[in-house]
Amino acid sequence: MSDIAVMGATGHTGSVIARNLLALGHRVRAMGRSAERLDALRQQGAQVIVGDCADPAYLTRAFEGADAVYAMMPFDPTAPGFMELQRAQGWAMVEALQAARVPHVVALSSLGADQPTGTGVLTSLYEQEQRLRTLQQSHVLMLRPAMFFEGLFNLLPRVKYGGSLADAFAPGLPIPMIATRDVAHAATGALDQRNWTGHSVRELLGPGDLSHDQLAAFVGGVIGQPALAYQQLPYDDAAQGMAAAGIAPDLARLLTEMARGLNEGRVRSLEGRSARNTTATPLQSLAPALKEVYEALH
Ligand SMILES: NC(=O)c1ccc[n+]([C@@H]2O[C@H](COP(=O)([O-])OP(=O)(O)OC[C@H]3O[C@@H](n4cnc5c(N)ncnc54)[C@H](OP(=O)(O)O)[C@@H]3O)[C@@H](O)[C@H]2O)c1
Repeated sequence: MSDIAVMGATGHTGSVIARNLLALGHRVRAMGRSAERLDALRQQGAQVIVGDCADPAYLTRAFEGADAVYAMMPFDPTAPGFMELQRAQGWAMVEALQAARVPHVVALSSLGADQPTGTGVLTSLYEQEQRLRTLQQSHVLMLRPAMFFEGLFNLLPRVKYGGSLADAFAPGLPIPMIATRDVAHAATGALDQRNWTGHSVRELLGPGDLSHDQLAAFVGGVIGQPALAYQQLPYDDAAQGMAAAGIAPDLARLLTEMARGLNEGRVRSLEGRSARNTTATPLQSLAPALKEVYEALH
């Protein structure tokens, strides 16, 4: 049995990792900003440690004595100053991992984090990988997953009110996509086994590549609109649409730059698809939740 700290333990990946690790018999430190939101994990046996991840003292306290840490960079889509905040959180994380001398770190990164520029929002994860590589005392595994299936939820209001699935990605471009639960399962395995040394990178590419035309056909099938089409938006229009929906304008611009990075081939797998980086959960698994969320929109 090991002590494992899980950042973002109420989030898509962290919540599943925390539950998985508890089921494997580990002592879990569940981290986040709200004791209330973490209470379900507390009831399942986790120790809840509440604080803001820009605070190195909080992180050091949470990491002290841990055998391993699941390290992720959260972001608030409505907060301005995305890059500045990510840098502050990134330094706080690395400072705390260093101070607590954590032996094993599984860090959530992304495809595209190999590129220093030209990938918009992902340059933050490039920078964080560089910071993590300064940790001399820790074995750090950087997981680079594909785009999350769950991002489709963000496109549903436009489907409902605009009649199309719309984004800045090229319509026919095959993009690797993954279920967050598969990212969580890979992270759980790494945290449990800790069978890697040094600083390494592992891609997670989901079950297959999907184009946005295919995504529109899938969503259309789920919501009973088989003719639903994908509409590629110009980058500026996509950014303005996100800002109008409440996303901070600087982040909206960075998200469209990420789409441009994919369209122009900068965000891509370096490993190439293999049995090792292909994960099991199909897009179809999202159908019931997508339908429910779509139908709940007014
Ligand atoms: N979306 C994609 O397609 C994609 C692809 C590859 C990589 N990624 C990366 O995945 C990461 C997001 O992972 P996820 O989806 O598992 O997270 P998520 O569902 O967005 O959850 C964020 C977690 O962080 C916590 N949190 C938020 N702000 C915090 C703060 N200031 N201090 C402490 N805790 C805070 C939240 O808890 P509370 O709100 O309860 O505090 C929550 O548990 C990002 O780094 C993103 O770049 C995303």
